[in-house]
Amino acid sequence: MTIMEAKPFINGEWISSEREVMEMKSPYSGEVIGKQFLATPADVEDALAATYVAKKEIAKISSYDRAKILKKAAALLEQEKERFAKLISLELGKPLKNTLDEVARSIETLELSGEEAKRLTGETLPGDASERGAKAIATTFRVPAGVVAAITPFNAPLNLVCHKVGPSFAAGNSTILKPAPQTALIATELLKLLLEAGLPENAVNMVLGGVEAGQQIVKDDRVNIISFTGGTIASKNICKIAGMKKVLLELGGNASTIVHEDADLERAADICAKTGFSNSGQSCISVQRIYVHRSIVDEFAERLKMEVQKLKVGDPLLPDTDVGTLVHENSALRIEQWIEEAIKEGATLLTGGKRNGASVEPTLLLNPSKTSNVVCQEVFGPIVGIIPYDTIEEAIEETNDSSFGLQAGIFTNKMDVAYQVAHALEVGGVVINGSSNFRLDHWPYGGVKNSGIGREGPRYAIEDMTETKMIVLRLPE
Ligand code: SIN
Repeated sequence: MTIMEAKPFINGEWISSEREVMEMKSPYSGEVIGKQFLATPADVEDALAATYVAKKEIAKISSYDRAKILKKAAALLEQEKERFAKLISLELGKPLKNTLDEVARSIETLELSGEEAKRLTGETLPGDASERGAKAIATTFRVPAGVVAAITPFNAPLNLVCHKVGPSFAAGNSTILKPAPQTALIATELLKLLLEAGLPENAVNMVLGGVEAGQQIVKDDRVNIISFTGGTIASKNICKIAGMKKVLLELGGNASTIVHEDADLERAADICAKTGFSNSGQSCISVQRIYVHRSIVDEFAERLKMEVQKLKVGDPLLPDTDVGTLVHENSALRIEQWIEEAIKEGATLLTGGKRNGASVEPTLLLNPSKTSNVVCQEVFGPIVGIIPYDTIEEAIEETNDSSFGLQAGIFTNKMDVAYQVAHALEVGGVVINGSSNFRLDHWPYGGVKNSGIGREGPRYAIEDMTETKMIVLRLPE
C-alpha cells in the first residue's frame, strides 16, 4: 500500500522537512496508511500571519469568482467521489455506505456555498421611520469578517471541513484550517482539490496538530471568527481564551427520539436502527435515547432489536458493511466500560455489547438509568437506550433534562402531539416522523445549551462569518 502524506499548507507551500511525524493507522486493520507532518509553533505563527495578510486580497475577489471556484470544486469532487469515500473509510473506519453519502453531501455543501456567495445582499432603510431621519437613507451590505479559524472534527472529516471552508471563502474571508489529527489525510486531499479548482493559494492555510496548535490559533488577535466543531470541554476552553472574537460552536448531544403510542413502529424501528448506528454512532445527532410510550415499548423494542441484528458489522471498505469501527480503540474501550456500567446500574442488554479492537457491536439497552453515562453523557458510539414513558409531558421533560440540546425526533401521526413536542423541546431542530439524526446541508444546523452557539448550513454560516456594514446618505435639507 502507498503511504500517504498529510502536510501543513502555509503561504502556498506544503511543509514537511524536519517536522515531527505522526504515523496514521487504519482503525480497522491497524495497518500504517500514512504519516502526518505536525506544524511547529513557528509554522502556526507563519500560517496566522499569512492568513491575516491574505484577508484583504480575498475580500477583493468578486462573488462571481468565489462562486465559480466553489462550484468547480464541487464538480471535481463529483469526479473523485469514490477515491474520497474510500480514503475516509480507510482513515476513520466509517463504512463506505456512509462515506459515499458524506462525499455526496460535501459536493452539495460546496455547491450551496457557491450559490450563497452570490446572495450576499443587504437592505435599504429609509430614515423617515425616525423623527430625525426624513432626509437620510441607509443601505446595508454584508462584508467579510476577515480571518476565520476553522477547527474541524474527525467524524465527518470531509463535509464538516466543507461546511466551514466553503462558507468562509464564499463570504470573502481568508481561512486558517486545523482539521482533526485523526483525519488529516482527507483534509489534505480536499485542500489539493480546492486549489485545483482555482482557490487562491493564500485563501486557506492549513496547520496540522493537536490542542496546542488549536490554542495558539484561538488566542491570536488576528483571528476574527472561530468556527469550531467538537466536544464541550474543548469548546469551554475556547470560550475562555478567545477574548473578543466571535465564537461559533457546533457541539455534541445525547439526542432523544420519541416514539409515541400511535407511531408507525415498523418505520420508527427501521429509521432508528439506521440512524442510531451509522458511523458507529459517531454523529452529534445520532439516536442515543429513545423514549417509547409504555403501551408499545415491548413491541417496539422487539422490532428495533430485529433491525439492529440485521446490521452488518465489519470491514468499512466493503460495500455492504453497516457498522465499521470507532475512530480509535480507546473510544471503543470507553464505550465498552459504559455498557458494563449501565448494565450494573439496571439496564437490560437486548443485543450487542461486545468489543473487538476498535469496533463495538451495535448495542441496544432497555431501561438504562437516568443517571448512567449512556443516558446523560454524549456516547458518540453505537449504543441506543430505550426508555418507557407514560405521558407525552414526561417524554418532553426527560428529553429536556439534559445539558445538551441539538436535535430531536418524534414519531407520531397526531399533528397536535407533534407540534406540542416540537415547540416544547429545548433543541435547535425537531424532526417529525423521523429520528434526531436527519440533516440536510442547506438547513440551519446547531444547538442550544451545551450543544453550541450559531448555526451551520452555508446560508447561516455566511451570516455569522460576515459583518453588517451600513452606508448612510444624508440628503440636503
Ligand atoms: C455532526 O456530527 O454534528 C454532523 C452530523 C451531520 O452532518 O450529519
